[in-house]
Amino acid sequence: MDYCPEELAGYIEQGMIDDWLGVVSSGKEATVHLAAKGDGLLAVKVFKERNERSFRNRADYHMAMMPLHAREARAMANRSGFGKAVAEGLWCQREAETLGILSAAGADVPRVVAHGCRSIVMEYFGTAESGASRLSDIRNRLPDAPGCFAAVLRNLGVFLEAGIVHGDLSPYNILYHGGRPVIIDFPQAVLIAASSGAESLFERDVSTVCEYFRRQGVATDAGRVAHQLWSGHALRRTLRRRTTEGTGEGP
Ligand SMILES: Nc1ncnc2c1ncn2[C@@H]1O[C@H](COP(=O)(O)OP(=O)(O)O)[C@@H](O)[C@H]1O
Ligand SMILES: [Mg+2]
Repeated sequence: MDYCPEELAGYIEQGMIDDWLGVVSSGKEATVHLAAKGDGLLAVKVFKERNERSFRNRADYHMAMMPLHAREARAMANRSGFGKAVAEGLWCQREAETLGILSAAGADVPRVVAHGCRSIVMEYFGTAESGASRLSDIRNRLPDAPGCFAAVLRNLGVFLEAGIVHGDLSPYNILYHGGRPVIIDFPQAVLIAASSGAESLFERDVSTVCEYFRRQGVATDAGRVAHQLWSGHALRRTLRRRTTEGTGEGP
């Protein structure tokens, strides 16, 4: 059995979790642990040290990073003390904040219980034996592929209304739990208002999802789906802006 990492020992001391039960998944960028709390279970995602991670190699790293966190990116490039601290905590903080915003907006994402600078305690999906399957793990037909697709699209709409694009959406980052999708893994999410690349990231997310559901027998046109969702969102954003300007509210 693996060892109980420092972060989890800290959460046990604080009473945030009762016990460490093991590892759910160990990936390139993070390890997800299973913890007991009262009668229930929680997931604890612990990010790996900066030099162990591969975010920098993601093709869209600069596109996703620069517009949103220009100051932080500059500090990291200068290797200042602030830059190092930012590099350690940025991904984790961005994921925790994004999950918080999206949960509050009604999206099907894990609820955050607590977070530190390298780890997030969140709602766990699965059983004591194993985590929920990801869509990518499901080889056979989903019992209700059209319903699941519709639920994913509903979530994409909620994300857009909250001003957020996932940026790495794929069957690897969608859990299938109790017959419904749960979307995970948000460290690279971007704010639409602050990122000129948000629309193309959104189109890529939609296209990856549509490709999966096409293989599940759901007829879709990714370009049309992306356009409809994005333009509906852009229209509502414009209308909201006009309303606020018209009433003299807002900043
Ligand atoms: N809240 C959760 N409940 C159950 N399993 C989870 C949860 N969050 C993550 N996992 C599992 O851990 C894996 C890695 O988590 P993820 O957030 O995708 O990080 P990364 O892909 O960067 O390593 C997921 O593929 C999933 O199997
Ligand atoms: Mg992932």
